[in-house]
Amino acid sequence: MLNIKNTGTATLTIGDKTIKLPILEGSEHEKAIDIRALRKETGFITYDPGFVNTGCCKSDITYIDGEKGILRYRGYGINDLADTCEFVEVAYLLVHGTLPNKKQQTEFSEHLNNHSMLHEDMRHFFNNFPDHAHPMATLSAMAVSLSSFYPELEDTSTQENIDYKVTRLLSKMRTAAAFSYKKSIGHPIVQPRHDLTYCENFLNMMFSTPVNNYQVDPIVAKALNKLLILHADHEQNCSASVVKMVGSSEANLYASISAGICALWGPLHGGANQHVIEMLERIIEEDNGDVKKVIERAKDKNDSFRLMGVGHRVYKSYDPRAKVAKQMCKDVLAKLGTNDPLVDLAQELEEAVLADEYFQSRSLYPNIDFYTGLTYRAMGIPTNMFTVMFAIGRIPGWIAQWLEMKEDPHGRIGRPRQIYTGPTQRSIS
Ligand code: CMC
Repeated sequence: MLNIKNTGTATLTIGDKTIKLPILEGSEHEKAIDIRALRKETGFITYDPGFVNTGCCKSDITYIDGEKGILRYRGYGINDLADTCEFVEVAYLLVHGTLPNKKQQTEFSEHLNNHSMLHEDMRHFFNNFPDHAHPMATLSAMAVSLSSFYPELEDTSTQENIDYKVTRLLSKMRTAAAFSYKKSIGHPIVQPRHDLTYCENFLNMMFSTPVNNYQVDPIVAKALNKLLILHADHEQNCSASVVKMVGSSEANLYASISAGICALWGPLHGGANQHVIEMLERIIEEDNGDVKKVIERAKDKNDSFRLMGVGHRVYKSYDPRAKVAKQMCKDVLAKLGTNDPLVDLAQELEEAVLADEYFQSRSLYPNIDFYTGLTYRAMGIPTNMFTVMFAIGRIPGWIAQWLEMKEDPHGRIGRPRQIYTGPTQRSIS
């Protein structure tokens, strides 16, 4: 851990018992009360559904200031990384803590190339999924299957082994994602190529066919690179917490990532990017583009409908990733010379959200998923693949968080407590 200070104590009085709890402060002056001794000293636990106030670890990886709209990976601002780096460099940064030098980057890229193919037996798995299978289900199954094909990588003790594991996951998950798409449209799969970059390879595997000599559009490859960087990590979010929870029982990395993919799939998390597009389509088809009606529904407490791509647990100002994604969406559409009525509708909806007292008073702003789906759509990525794109981008973050948890000297199996509210003891007779 780089910087953690013990800056005093908090006093807690329960009945006639008073205890002192240490106050911890991180490198960006975030403060926490260390309650590890609470139950032992008082018999009490804390109650915090959704872990809104609960810090589960100390971490050197990603910093977010939700009030100011700041996101940094290992100290670097998200805008700088998105503007200047390759996704592969950011993956290295998250896992190793520093940006790679030329030699390290070359070696890392070579590993990625060497691991890009799927074991032939794994390739056959795709034949047995139904055509309508959601690609997130396929991706999760493929992730956990890696542990049976490459069990030797369970050892994380050497740095070299970590790089093998990281590059194998990054590379093979990208291949599996593209294969799952090809399977869903009944096309033959396209193998990865060593002469293409990470993003070019993915696009080629998605869009090349035996009858069309697909040329990767550099605008699309650049946009994909940026989007993957925006997705790459977001500290202790739902899926990262799941990855760590599974890993805390000493299950292997692949099993942990597979669980993370499932957590990401939900519409309140990464699945929101797919649901944003479906919501916009419905507004056009069923509500004649009536934004006011949709806003009223979202505000109605008797209606379970929520605006997808709006609101965030941590950001109480504009999501910095959404800012980048919104600009990128405009740029990509302009460069590709495409018009999309859904983008105009999204902008109208955003303006209505920002002007409405309900959303203002709850600090609800567009989040990353509001504009990323529209950008993927402009790039030709089908809607049911949007969350898969998020997952590919998030893999380095999940790995970095998992590795940090493994090295944490205070790490223990994740096991929350509860307040039991069921019947007290009763007998059957
Ligand atoms: N539409 C309407 N009302 C909302 C919305 C929304 N999208 N989001 C939050 N609210 C309201 C909510 O009803 C509550 O109102 P009240 O105080 O009157 O009860 C208040 O805002 C606080 O919401 P919450 O549910 O307590 O907030 P949370 O931190 O538990 O949930 C969230 C965060 C992201 C799950 C939620 O904002 C949401 O459901 N958003 C839509 C789904 C979405 O876009 N998810 C992607 C998140 S960003 C990508 C990622 O990290 O994966």
